[in-house]
Amino acid sequence: MSTGQRPGRPGRRAVLLSGAGLVAGAAAASAGWALSEPPADAAASPGPATISPDDDLMREHGVLKRVLLCYREMTARIQAGGPLDAQNLHDAALIIHDYIEGFHEGLEEGYVFPRLIRAGQHTGTVTTLLVQHARGRVITQFLLRQATASGVASPGTRARLAAAMQAFDRMYQPHEAREDTVVFPAFRQIVPAGELASLGQHFADLEHQQFGTDEFAKMVGLVTSIEQNLGIYDLTQFTPQVTQYTQPA
Ligand SMILES: [Fe+2]
Ligand SMILES: [Fe+2]
Repeated sequence: MSTGQRPGRPGRRAVLLSGAGLVAGAAAASAGWALSEPPADAAASPGPATISPDDDLMREHGVLKRVLLCYREMTARIQAGGPLDAQNLHDAALIIHDYIEGFHEGLEEGYVFPRLIRAGQHTGTVTTLLVQHARGRVITQFLLRQATASGVASPGTRARLAAAMQAFDRMYQPHEAREDTVVFPAFRQIVPAGELASLGQHFADLEHQQFGTDEFAKMVGLVTSIEQNLGIYDLTQFTPQVTQYTQPA
């Protein structure tokens, strides 16, 4: 499956991300979001370090959130008329394409959403979330196509890039918050504890197949490096001064 990487730009991150093919997303797309059941041996002996499937999906949301922060920073730079590095934009969009859209959303569409639909729970929300996944993929393809030296230098393209990143951020902030607080808790209530454990192992196995070992740490490393390039990695810069709130009015 294509990673959206442009020819002639096989960066280190793209190589890391390309993995062995996006099994979950591709399988979900071709099978109408009916992914395979976890293997029986996984159900019998989930790994001791396996986290539950909803916790796994939520920490993937943490990666998504950090890419959204990169999008915000790049949008602000465009709006301020500053330079924009095409490689940073491409790398950020590639994490979304490969890890979030190609994997994380494949798990949601293959395992979480169908369970809620079958239970008749949050069906309207699931329908909206599916539409938003599809719209997000359109925006990501646009960002990957336009993340070129000439694209980030063209005033017209810069404005469209900023609008696209803003739209993506505006959609995914409530999207992931609703999944974390409504969809995943409902899923956890529906699925019996033993099945949750086997699904957690199955999710981990799929992730290993696609991205190799330490896949989550790799993704965190990739987004960290983009944050460092953008100058937004140091957490202390986000801590506000509060003296004005401690003085009498
Ligand atoms: Fe989602
Ligand atoms: Fe999600």
